[in-house]
Amino acid sequence: MADPVKLTIDGREIQAQPGMLVIDAAKQAGIEVPAFCYYEGLSLQAACRMCLVEVEKMPKLQTACTLPVAEGMVVKTETAQVASARKYMLEFLLTNHPLDCPVCDKGGECELQDMTFRYGVGESRYTEEKVHTPEKQFSPVVFFDAPRCILCYRCVRICDEGMGVKALGVVNRGVVSEIAPNHGDHLECDECGACIDICPVGALTSGTYRYQTRPWEMDHVGTICTHCADGCKTTLGTRNDRIIRGNNRDQSGINGEFLCIKGRYAFDFYDHPERLQMPLIRVNGKLEEASWAQALETVAKKFNQTVADGGTFGVVGSTRTTNEENFYLQKFAREVLRTNHIDHHRTGDVVTLLDALSGKEGKLATVSDLYEKKAILVLGADLALQHPLLSFQIRANYRHHQAHVYVVTPGEVREDHYAAASVRGRDYSGLCDKLKAEPELVIVFDDSYKGDDLRKLAEFGESLGIPVKYIALLDYSNSRGAVDMGLMPELLPGYKPSGQPGMHLDEIAAADLNVLWVVGANPLKGGKQRKAGFLVVQDLFLTETARQADVILPAASAYEKNGTVTNTTGEVQRLKRGINTMGAKPDLEIMGFIAREMGAAAALGPWTTDVVFDEIRKNVRGYQVPLAVVATGGAAVTTPLNGRIPVPSRPDLVHSDRNGLFSSGTLGRYSKVLSSVMEGRSERS
Ligand code: SF4
Ligand code: SF4
Ligand code: SF4
Ligand code: FES
Repeated sequence: MADPVKLTIDGREIQAQPGMLVIDAAKQAGIEVPAFCYYEGLSLQAACRMCLVEVEKMPKLQTACTLPVAEGMVVKTETAQVASARKYMLEFLLTNHPLDCPVCDKGGECELQDMTFRYGVGESRYTEEKVHTPEKQFSPVVFFDAPRCILCYRCVRICDEGMGVKALGVVNRGVVSEIAPNHGDHLECDECGACIDICPVGALTSGTYRYQTRPWEMDHVGTICTHCADGCKTTLGTRNDRIIRGNNRDQSGINGEFLCIKGRYAFDFYDHPERLQMPLIRVNGKLEEASWAQALETVAKKFNQTVADGGTFGVVGSTRTTNEENFYLQKFAREVLRTNHIDHHRTGDVVTLLDALSGKEGKLATVSDLYEKKAILVLGADLALQHPLLSFQIRANYRHHQAHVYVVTPGEVREDHYAAASVRGRDYSGLCDKLKAEPELVIVFDDSYKGDDLRKLAEFGESLGIPVKYIALLDYSNSRGAVDMGLMPELLPGYKPSGQPGMHLDEIAAADLNVLWVVGANPLKGGKQRKAGFLVVQDLFLTETARQADVILPAASAYEKNGTVTNTTGEVQRLKRGINTMGAKPDLEIMGFIAREMGAAAALGPWTTDVVFDEIRKNVRGYQVPLAVVATGGAAVTTPLNGRIPVPSRPDLVHSDRNGLFSSGTLGRYSKVLSSVMEGRSERS
């Protein structure tokens, strides 16, 4: 690293790396220079001139967002001349800007409003009528109010550079310049909402949040997105047990401020009219509403009777329920119901990967590795559609660090635009020489690399002679936690062999069992008929499986409960309850109540998330993570077993749902936002 330069800002001597911008050097020293167009991580625009500062020996004010630091430089950010320049810039920006803050969505968190309070004049000298143009709807998600726009180009740059989509541009010149969408009057894009989020004023607003509330009327709850397995932190704005918006402006998670459409808007399944809010019991062939007490008693009685009769159970767990729920469920199945017929839908071959890498340290990459490592090899997946955060990280790595990205996929993908090499198909061996020349590598692969193919891939990676880390792509928010917590017949929590035969998912769904218990899964989808004598389902909706149940217990969503989930890179994060939905209960509570009703609660221990997480930390290999990190909303990296896993590899059981940007299994089907985007697209096509 080069020697730092010394400069003075507002009388304080500071040190900064050569090439650093004055605006960043000031920020590092705790001095805020106002800025509209400057945005950390994006290219420079120098469009707004709010960041003007005085620099000794320079005759005119300088833009701090474009000026690199220099040895001996003396900068003043708060002089009368600077304040006056900012005042006039604001007056200029407000020439046409409507003064509708009281009804503007951005009111209360608007950067223009803040600056006007700080530097602006109380009155405008303009008496001319303001130019008004009507608001436009660019897409189901994005609305645009041109008069409010201050032409900072942040939206254009985040869409181009951050998202790699380039869906926004500017039309016309001078005072009539206007932000415009890529398809004439509408947008065709990822609908991620990043442009809305980054807009410093209320020019871009969201179809879901607009006119709903004021920012200070909401509670802000940091939790984890329940859709894909990338594990984005989302801060839910809630009010009166309703989720009004999701964003991550405080950049507190592994995703910084990134969210895709699902994390930002597709929480809306929670109040779908078809959401289950009362238990249902089948009476004379028909599902009828029942009280919780009746439903729990019915289930407990049947479970106890079946155990007493030596009957058979099958248990199917979920890829979205918490680690605590998954751990408790497998314990319940194995210790109380005395069955090893327990499984879940496997979406990636984690077991083979861990086995193939046994004896090697530090082989699993994290989300931040994708931003930091010098080279990335993407195999199989269309990351921009299937793993938006991982795609965003790799793009940012390329832009900021010029990472070498290699792609081997069946079709074209967004990464092709900047890849050092793109190969169509599945064969990565031709990249061998290039990869050997890299200083380090992360290999990201989807479910098409499993079993022996995955062992070959690990052999290939380890033969390159450079440090290589791996990411097995999985589908849902806790797909990884389901494997780690032993929701499999062959493995107990922490990848310990169960040593007992047990049926797998498809066998369980098709078997003539006495009781089938399904928690947050849909094993009978696709027209499968139930074979079990008695079917209990815990879910949010009347899925294909729930429709065939004898008892349905309405479950809480991820936004309505506490607990932890583990993402595709093995990072454990905390879910924090944002709202309550009347009638629904967290799966852990439902299971605890069933255990209590059966008289089996003592065997399983308390069913509070803290107690179960403590048990997981003590007993599940790899989960001895620092409690303080998880409790304060951080991501703790798990370190799973580093040794052979002596169970047969079952690649035939691994299938990704291959969700795209606008789908997400059952929950996606009940999201109004995702449905409206899909409908809009199918109408146009
Ligand atoms: S919603 Fe996302 S993809 Fe669409 S224009 Fe805005 S930033 Fe670009
Ligand atoms: S719409 Fe917002 S982000 Fe885009 S240029 Fe206008 S003010 Fe800036
Ligand atoms: S990338 Fe995945 S985890 Fe992140 S917001 Fe989108 S769906 Fe949620
Ligand atoms: S922030 Fe420097 S010109 Fe806009």
